Amino acid sequence: MKSGINQKKIYNFADMARILTGIQSSGKPHLGNILGAIKPALNLSKKSNEASFFFIADLHTLTSSRDAKKNQENTLYVAMAWLACGLDTQKDVFYLQSDVPEVCELAWILNCFTPFPMLANAHSFKDKSQNLSMVSSGLFTYPVLMAADIIMYDANLVPVGKDQKQHLEITRDIASAFNNQLGETFVLPEAFIQEEMMTIPGIDGRKMSKSYNNYINIFDDEKALKKSILSIVTDSTPLEQPKNPDTCNVFALYKLLATPEQTSDLKNKYLAGNFGFGQAKNMLFELILEVFKNEREKYFYLEKNKDFVDNELIKGAQKARDVSSKVLNRVRQKLGLRVL
Ligand code: ADP
Ligand code: TRP
Repeated sequence: MKSGINQKKIYNFADMARILTGIQSSGKPHLGNILGAIKPALNLSKKSNEASFFFIADLHTLTSSRDAKKNQENTLYVAMAWLACGLDTQKDVFYLQSDVPEVCELAWILNCFTPFPMLANAHSFKDKSQNLSMVSSGLFTYPVLMAADIIMYDANLVPVGKDQKQHLEITRDIASAFNNQLGETFVLPEAFIQEEMMTIPGIDGRKMSKSYNNYINIFDDEKALKKSILSIVTDSTPLEQPKNPDTCNVFALYKLLATPEQTSDLKNKYLAGNFGFGQAKNMLFELILEVFKNEREKYFYLEKNKDFVDNELIKGAQKARDVSSKVLNRVRQKLGLRVL
């Protein structure tokens, strides 16, 4: 579907939908981010004939990190991960949120249509603000900038994790408030949440997350990758005894990446005994190298060609601004502001 204002529920037909999603630049993307967010978004975009919009939410990152060097590095890591995982910059639009300043203008306008209590009651705001000594207005209006990110591009489908469901509801509420007061202006987006997408476990069995420091970075060099795999927590069943695959963190990760044959082969080894966790960890290490061979090669290439990455982002921002400036003019006109 093109940028026309069409509120029909057509989004079951992913082939016509404009897909958009963003990831914050808050660290190195780990196996959980790749299997839970990046790969599913790229797979969905392959089903659409429309260009998809993928961006790095580096302005959102400022709500938690104000360290210039760290932010710059993390932005690069996230960009390289998207490209290494197969983002096609010929078809899709890939850009930095901060390279499209129109989004901040739209966010301000949307702020004026957003009831204060809706933001004050948002789960994510309540959770994140709890332990902070300074709660910024940026954190408070985080969902409004996210709404601007989405409706700025007439997006139809937004692949996100379950934790972002409420932010999509807020987006729709703000866009509807605007449409109701000033006439059809914005496309109402839908969240695309894969309920069956499991939470990828970390090396300690909890959800893999940067905040628990329990992650596996598939783009680490072999030595560091092996080290993180060897530190996966296992129980102390002696080598000779049979082991329970269903309670083992190594097996849980192996199963996510292996073929059914490889999985049942490893299961049999666990059940037979005389097979140690060290051997299972080595098998997981080899499997990660095999499954992500192409992604790793691409990533290491990009690491040596950072200018290429930056150029892709600059070209992407130009394409994004072609769309955002038109939508912003549509909004300006509705509000009696000068059309630029
Ligand atoms: P983190 O918890 O490491 O800070 P983010 O909150 O930045 O990760 O998540 C970015 C994206 O990756 C989100 O869409 C989120 O749903 C997905 N994601 C993060 N961790 C996992 C995981 N362990 N399993 C599945 N998806 C995940
Ligand atoms: N809030 C999202 C997250 O933390 C990132 C994000 C910002 C986003 N803007 C977006 C996701 C727009 C989808 C669409 O995961």
